[in-house]
Amino acid sequence: MSRLRSALYRGKKTTLEMTDTTTAVRKRSKAAVKEEETTDPAPSTYHTFQDRADVVLLRSQLLHWYDKGKRELPWRTVAMTEPDLNIRTYAVWVSEIMLQQTQVATVIDYYNKWMKRWPTVQDLAAATLEEVNQMWAGLGYYSRGKRLHEGAQKVVSELKGQMPRTVESLLKQLPGVGRYTAGAIGSIALGQVTGVVDGNVIRVLCRTRAIGADSTSPAVTEALWGLANTLVDPERPGDFNQAMMELGARVCTPKSPLCGQCPIQSHCRSYRKVCVKQEKNSKRLLGKLDRISSALPDIEDCTSGGKCPLCPAEPWDDELGVQNFPRKPGKKPPRVERTLTCVVVRSVEDGEDEYLLTQRPSKGLLAGMWEFPSLLLEEENSEMKQKGALCAEISRMLGVQVNQSLFKYIGEVVHSFSHIHQTYVVYHVCLKEGADTQTPENTQWLTRSALQEAAVSTGVKKILKLYDSAENQEERPSKDGKRKKTTGVKDDKKPQTSKKAKLSAANSGTRQLYLSSFFKTVKEES
Ligand code: ADE
Repeated sequence: MSRLRSALYRGKKTTLEMTDTTTAVRKRSKAAVKEEETTDPAPSTYHTFQDRADVVLLRSQLLHWYDKGKRELPWRTVAMTEPDLNIRTYAVWVSEIMLQQTQVATVIDYYNKWMKRWPTVQDLAAATLEEVNQMWAGLGYYSRGKRLHEGAQKVVSELKGQMPRTVESLLKQLPGVGRYTAGAIGSIALGQVTGVVDGNVIRVLCRTRAIGADSTSPAVTEALWGLANTLVDPERPGDFNQAMMELGARVCTPKSPLCGQCPIQSHCRSYRKVCVKQEKNSKRLLGKLDRISSALPDIEDCTSGGKCPLCPAEPWDDELGVQNFPRKPGKKPPRVERTLTCVVVRSVEDGEDEYLLTQRPSKGLLAGMWEFPSLLLEEENSEMKQKGALCAEISRMLGVQVNQSLFKYIGEVVHSFSHIHQTYVVYHVCLKEGADTQTPENTQWLTRSALQEAAVSTGVKKILKLYDSAENQEERPSKDGKRKKTTGVKDDKKPQTSKKAKLSAANSGTRQLYLSSFFKTVKEES
C-alpha cells in the first residue's frame, strides 16, 4: 500500500492537504448527525437513523466490504495516490462528468485516453472544442465534454489555474457541476465530509429506510440528502460515498438485488419487511395466523398513519420484495423522429474517396458534432420524393446540380437518445471525380481515416457501418450472379409508405405531419 494511501486510510491530514473548509464541513456534518438524532423526527423516525451506534456500525460494515472487494478504477487510483491537489481534483472532476449517465465499464477507456492526452486542467484548457468533441465521440451526452472544456478554460483564465477547493466553490465555479458532482469531487478528491446522492445511492437509501414515495419529489430528495450526510464517514468520506455507489451498482441492483450479499442488510427496513411478510404468509398458510393479527400493521411500519411524505402511495407488492423501493413516476416516452440522411462520397484523383460532413449548431443536441447531410422527415412519402429532397439540399449545399438518379436508398438505422427515438433513412450518392463543388462553412470533406477520428456521434458510425455493408453487397455478386441493391442488414427496410407505417408515425403523438414542411432541416434539441 502506498504511503499516501495508507495515510488516507488512517485519516491523516498531511498528504491530503485538508483545508479549514474541509474541517468546517466535517463539523457541520457531525452537527447534522446530532440534529437528526435529537430534534427533528419529521416526517417519521422510521425513515431516518436514530441511533448513533447504528450509523457507526453501518459505516464500518460498508467500508469493510468496500476495502475487501472494490473495483480498481483509474480515477480511484489517482484519488488515492496523486499528491498534487490540483491534478487530483481535476482527475476526479473528469471521471465524475464522464460517469454521469454512462456505465463505469464504458468510461474506463475514455478516461485513460483523456488523462493521457490532457493530464492537467491547463492541458485541457489549451485544447480546442473540436479536439474535445473528437475525444468524447461515442460517449454520448456531448454537452458534458463541452462544459468540462469551458470549465477548464475558466479555471485557467479566472482562477489562476487553481481548481476550486470546497464543495461550495466547485458548485459555484464549474459549469455542469451540480450538487451530486460537487459532493463527489469534494469528498473523493478533497476529503470533504459531505454525502452524495446519485441514482445508485437513491436506491440503496430508499430500500434501507423504506422510502417509497416518488423519489424525484422534493420531500424525498431532501430526506435522501439528509440521510447521505448523516451516514457519510467523517474519516473516509470519499471511500464511503464510492462504497455506497458500488453497493448500488453491484449488490442493491434495480433488478434481482443480491440481499444475501449485502453488508448493511441488518439496517435494511425493506429487507426486514420482506422477511416479516414471508413469515406472516407462511404462518397464514399453515393456519397459525388469525385474521386479526394478519390485518395488524407490521411493527416495523412507518407510524405516520398514511400521511407520511416518504411512504409509498401504492400498496406493498409481495412479488416485488425490496424492489417496492424506490418508486419513480413513469418516464415520458421518447419522441419518435425520422431523419433523411445521405452519405455523399466523392472520388479523388489518385487519392482516397472523401465523405461530406456538415457541422451541427453549437448549441443543443450533439452540439458542434459532424454528421452526414440530413433533413428531418416531417411526413412519410415515396422514395422518389425523399431522393428529391436530399438532392435539392445537397445541390444547394455544394453549389452544383447533382443528378437525382444517382441517389440510392441503402436502408435504415435506429439510434436512441435519452429523449428521442431516431430513425435515419439512409441514402448514398457518389459524385463524379472533379465535380466543381463549393465547400461552404460548417462542411468538410474527410477521407475515411479522418472520418474515423472525427467528432462524430454513434449514430453517424452506425450509418457508416450500414453504408459499408451496402457497398460490400453491391460489390459481391449474389449466388444467382446478379448484384444486389439493398443491404440485407437488420435495420434495412424500404422507405415506409404503407398505411401501417403512416399510422404508426402519426400515432406516435409527437407532431402533426404537414406536407408543406417536408423540407425542414434537422432541428436541434436541448
Ligand atoms: N459513479 C459515479 N462516481 C463513481 C465512482 N467514483 N466510482 C464508481 N461509480 C461511480
